[in-house]
Amino acid sequence: KADDKAVGTWVAQYIAKRINDFKPTADRPFVLGLATGSTPIPTYQALIELHKAGKVSFAHVVTFNMDEYVGLPQSHPESYYSFMWRHLFDHIDVKKEQVHILNGNASDLAKECADYEQKIRDFGGMELIIGGIGIDGHIAFNEPGSSLTSRTRKQPLLHETRVANSRFFDNDISKVPTHALTMGVATVTDSREVLLLVTGHNKAEALARIVEGAVSHWWTASVLQMHNHALILCDESACDRLQ
Ligand code: F6R
Repeated sequence: KADDKAVGTWVAQYIAKRINDFKPTADRPFVLGLATGSTPIPTYQALIELHKAGKVSFAHVVTFNMDEYVGLPQSHPESYYSFMWRHLFDHIDVKKEQVHILNGNASDLAKECADYEQKIRDFGGMELIIGGIGIDGHIAFNEPGSSLTSRTRKQPLLHETRVANSRFFDNDISKVPTHALTMGVATVTDSREVLLLVTGHNKAEALARIVEGAVSHWWTASVLQMHNHALILCDESACDRLQ
């Protein structure tokens, strides 16, 4: 039975194969987009195992994370910076210079976002990005109503998203940041390949909306219906509401 662990194992093997098949050059590494949250944790665990078994190296990979909270200190255990080092980067062969995470404490947030877009372009664009979805169908932190042509920017988090993420902040919503910097919908879909990971009953409604509903900025992950290389990997519980 496909559960979240099976999804993680499959996705990790897929990423490893894509990296191994890629021919990097000095100015063109493999550009990998990454997400945080509970969903990708089994994938990161499986990637670490593959790395430790000598089956994949990240020496020629650069990474770009989808998003980061605004105003949360980088050293906070729930910053996406801390999350990524704890769950993945500390356990694989990447150096700090290979990792890119938006700085939610930059003095000029608009410039931070514009520079991030430029940096992705300078590396030749993302080869592959993995992400999850929110219960409101968000991809990265593109909450309902975000333009499908949006780029990296500051975005307010919906009450539902803050409630969902309060589980990481002592279940106290007042501790959850109100804004995030996030790749835009178009930043994500510019990636040559997109893998969307959807696991658990609480994502069933969102999965049905984005797969069977109309392409709409009210369910931003629905944009993947128009992407020519998008894969949705889901476990059985997430499929409960599909027709
Ligand atoms: C995280 C991100 C978000 C999450 C989504 C699901 O970097 O961009 O879109 O993927 O909120 O979060 P989890 O996996 O915790 O349910």
